[in-house]
Amino acid sequence: VIALRCQPAGEPATEVRIGDGAGAAFAERARDRRVFALVDEVIAELGLQPATPPNWVWHPVRGGEGLKTMAMAETVLRAMVQAGCDRGSVLCAVGGGTVGDLGGFCASLFARGIELWQVPTTTLAMLDSAVGGKTAVNLPEGKNLVGTVHPATLVVVEPAFLVCEPERNYRAGLAEAIKMGLGLDAELFALLERDAAVLRQRRDRAEWSTAFVGVVHRSLAAKIAVVEQDLRETGRRRLLNLGHTLGHALEAWHQGSVPHGECVARGLWFALDVARELGAMRSEEIERAGALLRRYQHHRMPLLMPVDELMAFVLRDKKVDSGVVHFAVPTGIGTSEVRPLEPGLLRRLLERE
Ligand SMILES: NC(=O)c1ccc[n+]([C@@H]2O[C@H](COP(=O)([O-])OP(=O)(O)OC[C@H]3O[C@@H](n4cnc5c(N)ncnc54)[C@H](O)[C@@H]3O)[C@@H](O)[C@H]2O)c1
Repeated sequence: VIALRCQPAGEPATEVRIGDGAGAAFAERARDRRVFALVDEVIAELGLQPATPPNWVWHPVRGGEGLKTMAMAETVLRAMVQAGCDRGSVLCAVGGGTVGDLGGFCASLFARGIELWQVPTTTLAMLDSAVGGKTAVNLPEGKNLVGTVHPATLVVVEPAFLVCEPERNYRAGLAEAIKMGLGLDAELFALLERDAAVLRQRRDRAEWSTAFVGVVHRSLAAKIAVVEQDLRETGRRRLLNLGHTLGHALEAWHQGSVPHGECVARGLWFALDVARELGAMRSEEIERAGALLRRYQHHRMPLLMPVDELMAFVLRDKKVDSGVVHFAVPTGIGTSEVRPLEPGLLRRLLERE
């Protein structure tokens, strides 16, 4: 089991444990406490729900974007009261990014904030969303428009949860690792190149698990290095939005019917085009990044929707500030920077996509 620690200044630390058997970390910490486990019901349906002592209360929910609503947050908070939770209780979110986002939101609100644990069960949540403290629910007006910053104290990554993950979601989740490698960590990028066949095909369980744990380790380490400096996204954390300016707009346009990671992958292609236009990245490196995206089956699909509609979503996003878009631009393999871009330029570039 690999251990990582995220310690932003003045905030509680997050302990991250990655690998088969990482869940052993719960036994000691859960003793004598009420643990409210908000769990994706798919976990029980797949026979993956672990046995727990009676101080754990299981609250099943149906994972998916529809879960992230204010109404659902109220339902969960009321269930927590009914389950006898108090300020010393802990909320343990077991599921993908949607359960993690809702669970973190509820943990931050209940009794003005209780301890949060995260057990990510999707590729995307393991590689990215379970660490970093962002919580969110959606409004009809847009995605993630309401939220808090409430880091988990413990994150347990058990790759065994992924045995039944649908192929499309698995592939989409890996796009977040490509994002982290391209924007922040050349060694992670090289690892994704080297282990592409093992990671894509998932033939041998032991070989896959070793490669996957290596990728989760480096992805989370890269994210932690950024989050420790800028938990509340006033600067450097914006680098984690690489591929997400167009990615979020596409996700919103498709009304959640296309997985987050697939939209991010298309957004990474756009970020590479922006880098080329700005002369920010050498063309051999742009080719190398494109080749990696293709190896993970993320092709540069033409954008068939009207640019006006995409721009409306881009301008409503949280990355817009005083009329400029804070756009994460790759500047090499493993490096990136945030540039303020005029909406007019973005529109012209999108028209070429
Ligand atoms: N907080 C953050 O920093 C952050 C970062 C990135 C993304 N996100 C959010 O994460 C969400 C996307 O996460 P996601 O892709 O995990 O979505 P998700 O939670 O909807 O999970 C995807 C699907 O997989 C199912 N599932 C969960 N675990 C499974 C398993 N082990 N086997 C089979 N199926 C399983 C779910 O029921 C769901 O149908 C978005 O809402 C996004 O905004 C948050």
